[in-house]
Amino acid sequence: MNYPFQIKSLEDYKKQYQKSVEFPEQFWAEIAETFTWKKKWDKVLEWNFTQPSIKWFQGGTLNITENCIDRHLETNGNTPAIIWESNNPDENNRVLTYKELHFKVVQFANVLKNNGVNKGDRVCLYMGMIPELAIAALACARIGAIHSIIFGGFSAQAIADRLDDAKAEFIITCDGAYRGVKDIPLKSVIDAAISGNKTIKKVIVCTRTNTTVNMTIDRDVWWDDEIKKIETLGNPDCPAVEMDAEDILFILYTSGSTGKPKGVVHTVAGYMIWANYTFVNVFQYQQGQIHFCTADIGWITGHSYIMYGPLSAGATSLMFEGVPTWPDAGRFWEIVEKYKVDILYTAPTAIRSLMGFGLEYVNGKNLSSLKVLGSVGEPINIEAWNWYNQNIGKGNCPIVDTWWQTETGGIMISNLADVTPSKPSYATLPLPGIQPCLVDENGIEIEGNGVNGNLCIKFPWPGIIRTTYNDHERCRLTYFSTYENKYFTGDGCLRNESGEYKITGRVDDVLNVSGHRIGTAEVENAINMHEGVIESAVVGYPHDIKGQGIYAYVIYNSSDGDLNLSKLDIIQTVSRMIGPIAKPDKIQFVPNLPKTRSGKIMRRILRKIAEGDTSNLGDTSTLLDPSLVDIIISESI
Ligand code: WTA
Repeated sequence: MNYPFQIKSLEDYKKQYQKSVEFPEQFWAEIAETFTWKKKWDKVLEWNFTQPSIKWFQGGTLNITENCIDRHLETNGNTPAIIWESNNPDENNRVLTYKELHFKVVQFANVLKNNGVNKGDRVCLYMGMIPELAIAALACARIGAIHSIIFGGFSAQAIADRLDDAKAEFIITCDGAYRGVKDIPLKSVIDAAISGNKTIKKVIVCTRTNTTVNMTIDRDVWWDDEIKKIETLGNPDCPAVEMDAEDILFILYTSGSTGKPKGVVHTVAGYMIWANYTFVNVFQYQQGQIHFCTADIGWITGHSYIMYGPLSAGATSLMFEGVPTWPDAGRFWEIVEKYKVDILYTAPTAIRSLMGFGLEYVNGKNLSSLKVLGSVGEPINIEAWNWYNQNIGKGNCPIVDTWWQTETGGIMISNLADVTPSKPSYATLPLPGIQPCLVDENGIEIEGNGVNGNLCIKFPWPGIIRTTYNDHERCRLTYFSTYENKYFTGDGCLRNESGEYKITGRVDDVLNVSGHRIGTAEVENAINMHEGVIESAVVGYPHDIKGQGIYAYVIYNSSDGDLNLSKLDIIQTVSRMIGPIAKPDKIQFVPNLPKTRSGKIMRRILRKIAEGDTSNLGDTSTLLDPSLVDIIISESI
């Protein structure tokens, strides 16, 4: 496959960017034309940010799987689409060519149909990182069912909330999943999540760990048995269902500053084009290269840069089941050497963790195949950037620092590998189609360079969030109401004298722990479920490896026993309500929380104390009980 709209030079970037701003409809129409449509669109773009209502390529119809699979069959049918590396280095790998992927997706799409799944139905996928996860997602897309993939680390309660919100009727899961030394019993978590649930019609269980599971008659079926039924039918074809450009492709839940996670909705055509365009341009992918994105498909990075971006480009996507530090901290480098990986896309938290193990795991590994390195999920500190650059890229590979969000569908601000300049800790320049702006608290746009503000986007791009599932008002309130006529990202940002962007972190009550978004309110709600807890407040603090750690201040009814045991108990409660990723790193029991006279918790003070910086707490005179602050400081951890 060639990529006619791949940007080739800095001048070309400037030209394309200019065109995307001046003539956005023409710009995107020309790109859209290179995809496979069943029917061409009538109108490229119709939008307003007040409702919001954003429609790309209205009237057009297509199926994303024809673009991700079928269109590659003739010329690239024998090219590996997915290379899978097991958690266990001694287990054989698996390679699925585009032809084989086509066969398996069609086959499983027929399984879904056989089990009563129809266009528009919500199917929840709670699986480990095995090719069947991608096959199941693509099979949903083939028949127009909406997938909602839930990361394998979420708890039964977190799954139950998401199933309920999406009104999902179908689940695809595994008996278990391997992650390093752990064997996670996915099916039994699902059983707990759906006990008493009357909406779920079928649970399809794929075998991976051979863990014993309970199967409920009439509801639970085995993946392999269902495949056999399709085989006895002679493996019929499953034509790709015709989807409107703005039909929903998937829902992906993500945390915000308030309440429960919200279901971010992406639609077929715009998301596909954006994932593809950004993949091809940011990483400068060349046909035949091996692209290794280390994310889990349960997060947006895996959706866009393991599945939809690479596959729509006919690329070879390497999928890794395990973790970077098991059996040892050389696992990524072994994989790079084994497959001659060209592009490595990972998270600063992984880099920092591997840095900590020392160079003995890097030395001796042949990393000379690497051409491009990528970073995503959180700001990358200069130390990690330098380590990545020197020891992994050997000073020869551009590092793309890609800023984006679940809501943006794909990369928004990033340098383009070897095409636009990189700058450590800067995401640098917006992609064509992206019109960022910085605003002050009053919503006034801050013009010029060398300025700081809240990052907004002024104009829609094809991959923008369309709604939050079943609750459009929440989408409007969260993203489109803070600043008039702008999409608000929730991030703070600096634009330097040369007009390059540096993301400074969230400006709302959202934490970024190991690159995962966690709402403080969500963690507080979970902590408060513990019967001994009266009230709690959660803030972030700088953490050497995770980027941010979770610090919980808890008012606890301490009449009973061992306080350390109580802390463990609270941690377990959070694990049960959300999942291990949201466990507090530090818990401090406090007599009370610093509140204003109107009852508002002054988080600014709690944040400072958690950061260990109590030199300048600002004005504490408006507190109901200023003396409380000294007590909290003296007992801080
Ligand atoms: C943060 C992940 C700095 C940011 C793709 C954003 C980053 C949130 C970067 C979205 C980066 C992501 N530099 N910060 N390169 N990339 N972020 O939805 O705060 O899981 O708002 O999407 O991660 O996280 P999400």
